[in-house]
Amino acid sequence: MESKVYPVSDEWAQDALIDAETYARKYRQSIEDPDTFWREEAQRIDWIKPFTKVKDTSFDKDDFHIRWFEDGTLNLAANCLDRHLADHGDRPAIIWEPDDPSHDNRILTYRQLYEETCRFANGLKANGVKKGDRVTIYMPMVPEAAIAMLACARIGAVHSVIFAGFSPEALGNRIEDCDSDIVITADEGHRGGRKVPLKANVDEALDHHAHVSRVIMLRHTGADVPMKEGRDITWDEAVADQSTDCEPEEMAAEDPLFILYTSGSTGKPKGVLHTTGGYAVWTSMTHEYSFDHRPGDVYWCAADIGWITGHSYIVYGPFANGATNVMFEGTPNYPDFSRFWQIVDKYRVNILYTAPTALRALMREGNEWVEKTSRDSLRVLGSVGEPINPEAWEWYYHIVGNGKCPIADTWWQTETGGHMITPLPGAHALKPGSATKPMFGVKPEIVDTDGNRLEGPCEGALVIADSWPGQMRGVYGDEERFFLTYFSTFKGRYFTSDGCRRDEDGYYWITGRMDDVINVSGHRMGTAEIESALVLHEKVAEAAVVAMPHDVKGQGIYCYVTTIAGVEGDEDLRKELIKWVRHEIGPIASPDVVQFAPSLPKTRSGKIMRRILRKIAENDTSNLGDTSTLADPEVVDNLIANRPDL
Ligand code: PRX
Repeated sequence: MESKVYPVSDEWAQDALIDAETYARKYRQSIEDPDTFWREEAQRIDWIKPFTKVKDTSFDKDDFHIRWFEDGTLNLAANCLDRHLADHGDRPAIIWEPDDPSHDNRILTYRQLYEETCRFANGLKANGVKKGDRVTIYMPMVPEAAIAMLACARIGAVHSVIFAGFSPEALGNRIEDCDSDIVITADEGHRGGRKVPLKANVDEALDHHAHVSRVIMLRHTGADVPMKEGRDITWDEAVADQSTDCEPEEMAAEDPLFILYTSGSTGKPKGVLHTTGGYAVWTSMTHEYSFDHRPGDVYWCAADIGWITGHSYIVYGPFANGATNVMFEGTPNYPDFSRFWQIVDKYRVNILYTAPTALRALMREGNEWVEKTSRDSLRVLGSVGEPINPEAWEWYYHIVGNGKCPIADTWWQTETGGHMITPLPGAHALKPGSATKPMFGVKPEIVDTDGNRLEGPCEGALVIADSWPGQMRGVYGDEERFFLTYFSTFKGRYFTSDGCRRDEDGYYWITGRMDDVINVSGHRMGTAEIESALVLHEKVAEAAVVAMPHDVKGQGIYCYVTTIAGVEGDEDLRKELIKWVRHEIGPIASPDVVQFAPSLPKTRSGKIMRRILRKIAENDTSNLGDTSTLADPEVVDNLIANRPDL
C-alpha cells in the first residue's frame, strides 16, 4: 500500500531529545542489554532504597512472574511533587480550565499541589484509610481528582478511578469487585453545559452496596444534594485542620498503585492492576520521549482521568516530569467548535494529546473554527485511543498543526501502562495512520493464528515477546484470569488482541481489535457486557451486539434483539432499550442501532454466528462467507431485509 511519508524536519533532527541515531542505538541496547538500559533509565525516579535487581520476568506457564526493580522502594506521589519543590515549586502544575469559559480558571503551582495532596492524604488517614486499602474515585475533571489519586499514592492506598460517565449500576459493581469502603466524589460535574449528577449516582449505587462507610464529596457546582448522616462528609470537612505535610509511605516497587476497570471479551469488566516502580519509570520515560517534553513546556492531554490515558499522561508521567499540565473539564464542542483551539491559544499550549474521535467531530464542522485561532505555540501533537484514519491525520497535521508539528500516534492499552508503539518526534519519518516503531524495551511480533512468528512485511496478530516495566501485573481478585486472558493464546507472549500489519519499512499499522471489544470514541466496550445488560430487560429474550463503522466515533454499537414471545419490537421498545443500556452501563454504551430480529443466525450447535451479524451491521452483505453451517439460512435473509436504513 502506497502512503505518504513526512520526513523529520531539519530543525527537529537537530534539536530533538531523541534523534534517529539515538533511537536506533537506545532501542538496540534496550533489547540486547535491558539490564544496563533500565538501570540507567530508572535513575529518572528518586528511589528511597535503590534497587539492585532490574528485571525478573517470565511469560511461561510453569514459571509465570513479572517483577521489575523489585528490591527498590519509592513513593510515586513524592516523585510527582516533593522533588520539584526546591527548584520549581512556583511552576504551575495544573492549569485548570472550566467547562464554561465565563467561569474562573484555577492555577495550582507544584507547591500548592503538594500541600493540597498532603492535606487530603492526612484527611484520608483520619478517615481510616490505610496502606493497601482500595479507594474508589468518581470525580469530574477537576484538580481534586488528581489530588485524590496522588493522596492515595502518598499513603499507599490503591485507587480505583471510575469514569464519571458510568452509571450507578456500573459504579456499584466496581466498588463491589475491589471491595472498597470509601468513595470520593463531587456534588455534580459540568460537561458541555450540562450537569452530571455524581453524588446522586453514588447514592443510588450505595443503596445496594451498604458496606461503604465513608463518602467524601467535593462541593463543585454547589448543587443542593442530600448528605447521609454518619456516612457522607464534604471534602472541606475531610481536610479541615489537616497538616500540609504528610510523610510519604515507603512502597516496594511491586506494591499495587491502582486498579482500573476495562472491558474484555467476557461479560465482566476486569480490574487491571498496576504496581509502583516499573509504572513510574515507564510513564515518566514515555511521556518525555514520545512528546519530546522539556521543562517549562505547557502540556495538555485532553483525555479524562477515568481512563488509563488520564492516569499515565495527565497524572503520573507528566507530574513525575514536572510538567505544566492543562486540565480541561469540558468538551471540544462547547460553547462552540473553537473551544480546543481557544484553550491552546489561551495557555500557549506546546504539546496537545487528544483522540481521533474528537478530531473527526471537529473536522466535519469546517476549518474556520480552527483557522480563526493562532495555535502557533504548538510543537507536538499526540493521538491515542484508536487507529487514526489518514484523513483525520492529515487534517490534524496541516490544519491544526500548520504543517509543522510531528504527530505522535501512540498505540497502547490499559494493560500496557504507557506507550508501546509510537513515533518519536525527532526520530521517525511519519506515515499517516501508522503508529510507526516500538518504544524502547518493546519487542512487538506479528504472528499467524498458529502462533508462528511472521517476518518482513506481513499482517496478523500483534503480540509482545517480552516484558516491559509498565506492564499490568494482574487482574484484581482473579489471579488465573491474567495468565489465561493474555498469555495462553500464544505461548510465551503477551497477546494484545489487536490485529496489525508491518510494512516494508518495518512500520506497524494497527488494524483494530480481533476480539469482541468495540472501540467507541476510543472507549473500550465489551459486546458481552452490553448483551448482558440487554437480556436483563424483561422483554428481551436474546441479544447479540457487534461493531458497526461510524464516521465520528470510529465504531458504533449495533444490537440485534429478539423479544420474548408475544412482545413486538416497536419504536417505543427500541427507545426504552437504549435508555435501559444507558442506565445499566452509562451513556458511553448507548446503542447506535437496535434491530429487532425474530431469531439470530446460529450454527447447528447453537453458536451465534457473529461474523454474519458484523457483515450485516457493516451493510456489506454481498459476500457473507461460508454460511453452510447455518441452522436456518432464512434467518439471515430476514435480517438483511429488515436492516434499518442508516
Ligand atoms: O485497539 C487498540 C486501541 O485501543 C485499545 C486499548 O484501549 P484502552 O485499553 O481503552 O486504552 C486506550 C488508551 C491507550 C487497543 O487495544 N488503540 C489505542 N491507541 C491506538 C489504538 N489503535 C490504534 N492506534 C492507536 N494509537
